[in-house]
Amino acid sequence: MMTRPIRFGIIGAAGRGNSFVRALRANPATELRALCDVRAEQLAVSASELDVEHTFTEAEALIQSGTVDAIVVGTPMQFHAPQAILALEQNIHVLSEVTAAVSVEESRDLVRAARRSSATYMMAENYTYTKSNVLVCELARRGLFGETYYGEGGYIHELKQHNETTPWRRHWQTGVNGCTYPTHSLGPVLQWFNADRRRPDRVVAVCAIGSGHHYLDPRGDRYEMEDSVTMMCRLTSGGLVHIRVDMLSDRPHNMVHYALQGTDGAYESTDGNGAAAKIWLRARHATPTWEPLAALEEEFLPDFWKNPPQEAVNAGHGGGDYWEVQDFVQAILEQGEAPIGIDLAMDMTLPGLLSQQSLAAGSSWVAVPDPRNWT
Ligand SMILES: NC(=O)c1ccc[n+]([C@@H]2O[C@H](COP(=O)([O-])OP(=O)(O)OC[C@H]3O[C@@H](n4cnc5c(N)ncnc54)[C@H](O)[C@@H]3O)[C@@H](O)[C@H]2O)c1
Repeated sequence: MMTRPIRFGIIGAAGRGNSFVRALRANPATELRALCDVRAEQLAVSASELDVEHTFTEAEALIQSGTVDAIVVGTPMQFHAPQAILALEQNIHVLSEVTAAVSVEESRDLVRAARRSSATYMMAENYTYTKSNVLVCELARRGLFGETYYGEGGYIHELKQHNETTPWRRHWQTGVNGCTYPTHSLGPVLQWFNADRRRPDRVVAVCAIGSGHHYLDPRGDRYEMEDSVTMMCRLTSGGLVHIRVDMLSDRPHNMVHYALQGTDGAYESTDGNGAAAKIWLRARHATPTWEPLAALEEEFLPDFWKNPPQEAVNAGHGGGDYWEVQDFVQAILEQGEAPIGIDLAMDMTLPGLLSQQSLAAGSSWVAVPDPRNWT
């Protein structure tokens, strides 16, 4: 049991890392001790605004400084695994932004580091914490969909301009052909298939297909990623999950497209632009009939979302940015496994990495390794 607050540091503090501050400060078991960012000027502004004592312009320096027990990794994707590994080697707890890693090789190194470390690792897949996704997960956990056998997730978020202001995206997200940013879509759906802990499910093989290239970047170069990349995922149970990632097509955003089909129920999410999510459960209507998902909140919504604190209601990404931090802190305090520990982080990350191989091989099926076999 910890006797003093968990001392936190945030890496990438002048960017995405900053959005973790409020959730950390809402938890009395934590203390924000250090900030790190390569942009020294913005770092100094953040440190002054947030009144944080220690600042670093190199992640290694923060990790080795002895000032923190835990870090949030909010840096660009290619730094997640290397920075997480460095911290885990020092037995410093890690809450890492998505995706967990950018290559299979790096994923193996991260799994090894997490297994050797006494610290807690969690991937910050915030979309698994939104109210509607938590409710669907609870319904699946109670078996109300019957046997689930088909799911869908879509991350459709036009980011061409954002590619220019955060050039790492042009390289790691739209500069690679594959489902390069799949965890917001696959993460929640996988949890619904996994909801019955006696029948854990994971993606065993992927087949990816692209829609071709219809846009050029401001330099006139073709994006290496095809505009819409669809990844079919075969699960251990035989189930099928269809993931679409599109960060290039001109259209309104929809980052929260989901669907689920079971023998006793079906779900279709909101379109992200105001339409209500709808559900049919045989237990409530013998004849298939849609009803609003919200109608099930009173009876089935887990307590933590029933009376959420204001910090959760105000937090980004449908409250996900708040709840993921609380769960991570709880896991540290209990010295238990985090809800999205290293194996689940890999189950959500690896299919996208293998989708690159599938596309390169003409959309052939490619096996997805089970990280539980990596020692
Ligand atoms: N979960 C979500 O909903 C969500 C939302 C936005 C971004 N993200 C993820 O968060 C990460 C950061 O995204 P962003 O939009 O903030 O990008 P960004 O380019 O703004 O980078 C974040 C910050 O990291 C700093 N940085 C870059 N390299 C660094 C290094 N080596 N060491 C320390 N600091 C470094 C940058 O100066 C910047 O302030 C990405 O992996 C992205 O995918 C997740």
